[in-house]
Amino acid sequence: MVGRGFLGCFILCLSLASVCAIKGTLNSIDDLRDKEFGHTSPRHGLMLLHWLANNIHIDNNGNMRLNFNPTRRDYGIHLYGNRPCSIPFLLPESGRYYSLGNMNSFGSMNALPYYVTQRFYNSRRPENNRDRVILRVREEESNQFIVDEVYVTQHYPPNQYRGSAYDPDNTYRVNVSLLRQIQSLPTIDQIEIPRIYNVEINHNSLQSLENIWGHTPGLALLLAIVLYFTRPKTFLFKEQSLRLTSQPQSGMDNPRVEDDNTLIKLEVKTTDRGKARIIWSGIPKRLLDQGVMVVLHRNNNSDSKSELDRSSVGGQASGSYNTSVPLNPGLQVRLHKEVNNWWTYLGFGSTIGEEIWRGSEFHNANREIPVDINGHDASLQLFVKDGKACARLYVKKSFTAWKKMFINSWVGFYSSEGTLDHKTWQWAVKFSEESRSDWADIPGYDVYVYESSMTMSPGVQVRFILEKSGGEKARTPPWERLVQG
Ligand SMILES: *[C@@H]1O[C@H](CO)[C@@H](O)[C@H](O)[C@H]1NC(C)=O
Ligand SMILES: *[C@@H]1O[C@H](CO)[C@@H](O)[C@H](O)[C@H]1NC(C)=O
Ligand SMILES: *[C@@H]1O[C@H](CO)[C@@H](O)[C@H](O)[C@H]1NC(C)=O
Repeated sequence: MVGRGFLGCFILCLSLASVCAIKGTLNSIDDLRDKEFGHTSPRHGLMLLHWLANNIHIDNNGNMRLNFNPTRRDYGIHLYGNRPCSIPFLLPESGRYYSLGNMNSFGSMNALPYYVTQRFYNSRRPENNRDRVILRVREEESNQFIVDEVYVTQHYPPNQYRGSAYDPDNTYRVNVSLLRQIQSLPTIDQIEIPRIYNVEINHNSLQSLENIWGHTPGLALLLAIVLYFTRPKTFLFKEQSLRLTSQPQSGMDNPRVEDDNTLIKLEVKTTDRGKARIIWSGIPKRLLDQGVMVVLHRNNNSDSKSELDRSSVGGQASGSYNTSVPLNPGLQVRLHKEVNNWWTYLGFGSTIGEEIWRGSEFHNANREIPVDINGHDASLQLFVKDGKACARLYVKKSFTAWKKMFINSWVGFYSSEGTLDHKTWQWAVKFSEESRSDWADIPGYDVYVYESSMTMSPGVQVRFILEKSGGEKARTPPWERLVQG
C-alpha cells in the first residue's frame, strides 16, 4: 500500500515537476511579509509558526530537536503521506513528514494553546483551518526527535474544491534562521527592530497588539512585523477597535465586533471538589452594559439549548463561577447576551440571548502532554473524568516486555507536589486497555487507563513508581499548576 502510493507519487512528481517544486525558502521574518501564510483572519498560521519556534530546540550548529513526541501524536501532529507531492521527495531512510495544525485532528484541540485555536472556535468560516506546518523528522535513539526540514504550506481555498491537497505555490521551506528570529523576539531591543527587520513599528499599534497577545511573549511583535506592509489598515488604531489580522476585502463578517471580542477569555477550571469552575475575563464594557452571561456546555458540538449551567457575569469584566457540574473533558464556556423579559422582574431569571464568544473545550490532556517514564518506552498522563483523577499509560508497541518489566510497578495519586503519601494507587499492569476507537490514530502505542476514586482538584499529581529497581520514574505536572499557555 505504502509502496504503491509512494511510487504513484514519485511518478506524478516526475511528470509534474513544476507542481512539486516549492516556491522558495524563508530565511527571515521579513520574508514572511509578502506571503499568504496566516495573513488574514481567521487563519492561524502565524500563531502555529510562533508556537513551533517555541517548542523546538536549536543548537549552535542549527540542529533542531522537538520538545515533544510526534509519534505519540502530541499536539495533534500526524504523519503526512506527501500526496500529491506538495513538498520535495520523502526518502524513506531520511525521516518522515509530519503535519501540524489541523484543528479537526484528534489531539490538537486539547493540546495546542488557546492563542492558536481561538479563531477556530470563534469563526464559522472554513478559512480557519487552511494553514499547516510540515516537519521532516528523524527519530534518534531514546525518543529524540530531530527535525531536518520545516515547511509552511496551506490547503487550497475551500471554494476551489481541490480536496485536501496542499498548494505548492504557497509552500515554502523555513530556514532555521527564521525560527531563531522568532525565538529571539521576546528579548529584542525595540530600538534594534528597524535595523534587523526592516520596518518602522508604530508603537501605538504594537501596544494594541500587546493588549491582546501580550501573554504570549514575542507574538505581538511577530504579527506587527509580518502584517505591517501587507495591510497598513491593520494599524488604524482606535480605542477598543483592534482591526487585527482582518482584511476588509476578505469578507470579514463584522471585523469591529470580532476584534473587540478577541480580548475575551473564557475558561473551564477545577474547583477543589472536582467540579467545573468558569473563569472569564476581558469582557468589553459595550457587552457588560447590555448584560451577558456565561453558559456551560458539554462540548463544542452541543446545541445552544442543552446547557449544563449558567450564571450572569453581574457587570464584572472578569470573575469566576463555581458550578456543580462534575469536571469532564470537552466542557466549554460560551458567552451569551442576557435577555430580560417581564418574567425576569417576577424573579424567574433571564433568558439566554445571542451567542457572542466561545472558549476552547476543556480536554483530557488539559494542554499537558504525557511525561516520559525514565529509561522506558512508556509515558504517563493525568486526566479527569466525572470529576475524578485518572491516569493513562502510553506504552510503545516495541516495548513488548512491559508487563514483565512493570510487574511490581504502581501509579500513585497525590494531592500535591509536596506530599509524600499517596491518596490512592493502582498496579501498572492492572490498568485497562483504552477503547481503540479514540486512539486508533496512534499506531506506535498501546494506551491503558485507570480511573481512580480520588476527587480531582488543583495540585493533584500522579507518579510512576518502579518498585524493585527502586523509586520514582515519572511524575506529571500538578493539575492546573502549570505555566499559562
Ligand atoms: C465548534 O462549533 C462551531 C459551530 O457549530 C463550528 O463551526 C466549529 O467548527 C466547531 N469547532 C470545533 C473545534 O469543533
Ligand atoms: C539559511 O539562512 C542562512 C543564514 O541566513 C544562510 O546562510 C543559508 O544559505 C540559508 N539556507 C538556505 C537553504 O537558504
Ligand atoms: C470556588 O472554587 C475555588 C477553587 O476550589 C475556591 O477557591 C473558591 O473559594 C470557590 N468559591 C466559592 C464562592 O465557593
